[in-house]
Amino acid sequence: MTILVTGCAGFIGHAVSLALLGEGYRVIGVDSLNAYYSVTLKRLRLAQLLKSPLFEFHQLDLATPDVLMDLPGKADIDQVIHLAAQAGVRHSMDNPFPYVTANVVGHLSVLEFCRRMPARPKLIYASSSSVYGISEQSMLAEGDIAGPPASLYAVTKQADELMSQAYSSLYGIDQIGLRFFTVYGPWGRPDMAYWLFTAKALAGEPLEVFNYGEMERDFTYIDDAVAGVLAVVLNAGAGDGQTQTQHRIYNLGSGRAEPLQSLVDAVAMATDRTVQIEHHPHQPGDVKRTCADISQLRADYGYEPKVQLTEGIRRFVAWYQSDPELAQL
Ligand SMILES: NC(=O)c1ccc[n+]([C@@H]2O[C@H](COP(=O)([O-])OP(=O)(O)OC[C@H]3O[C@@H](n4cnc5c(N)ncnc54)[C@H](O)[C@@H]3O)[C@@H](O)[C@H]2O)c1
Repeated sequence: MTILVTGCAGFIGHAVSLALLGEGYRVIGVDSLNAYYSVTLKRLRLAQLLKSPLFEFHQLDLATPDVLMDLPGKADIDQVIHLAAQAGVRHSMDNPFPYVTANVVGHLSVLEFCRRMPARPKLIYASSSSVYGISEQSMLAEGDIAGPPASLYAVTKQADELMSQAYSSLYGIDQIGLRFFTVYGPWGRPDMAYWLFTAKALAGEPLEVFNYGEMERDFTYIDDAVAGVLAVVLNAGAGDGQTQTQHRIYNLGSGRAEPLQSLVDAVAMATDRTVQIEHHPHQPGDVKRTCADISQLRADYGYEPKVQLTEGIRRFVAWYQSDPELAQL
């Protein structure tokens, strides 16, 4: 089986590609290698993937119409895992345009590719917990009505789900959308709190905590996120119960909400530092709480998250400290 992975130099795309290569699949990876965060880190991830003879890479921008139609070997592609996006909720406040080009036009490029390929590859794409918006629900289930969007990033992910629904019913493209909940771990993203907290803790600087720490997040360890994606990819027919074309959406989280203080404590323990906190008010774009109801993914694909926050952060900090260059990225 040949799988196209978009965003293969990104955090989740790299980890998913590595796992697929480990299973013996051929992976065609694409990524624009944009400079939202360290391109050096993206190239380091890519270098790992390029060690496999089953991997090939093409640098391209999905927001360029028809760009995938020129992809070498495109006729071999059986499935598409679309993880490329302009990520980051807070960044979308000051830089709105890349969100619409990468996330909306880019998603359309992928849908058009699936529509125009005679084999109609199945599409698995990344959505986000942010589609739930500003919600009062304590557990977020797939069928819940979304509250008002808290950011433009959230709007682009909602738009992706709607576009996918339209392409599924209009053109018969099988799709699964995965709503990721705060994924973290080794080879992660330097813009996210766990990385920033670790860097500050090790440098002896105060950790910036927003909304006076009054936040809860469903933190998903990268290996659990990858296991969820692979379960869906490798058991493409599971959970269908019928043969007609479908578009289904699943939460992919840990199923637990952790107070932000638990992340601070885990970082302090893993770095073996006493940390200072600098409290700040609520930041526009942030929601107060996320917690995934994961019963659907569990029932249809046997998904079971394994790594708890303290252990996941311990593994992240061990990785971060394994190479002094990581602190310079
Ligand atoms: N990491 C999380 O906590 C999280 C949570 C919810 C949803 N998601 C979603 O999961 C997916 C992967 O996230 P991630 O954390 O790996 O982010 P990431 O930023 O590490 O990876 C995204 C990759 O996409 C590439 N990219 C961006 N625009 C592109 C374009 N126009 N054409 C081609 N490549 C492009 C980037 O260069 C980057 O390497 C994204 O869709 C993101 O919105 C992530």
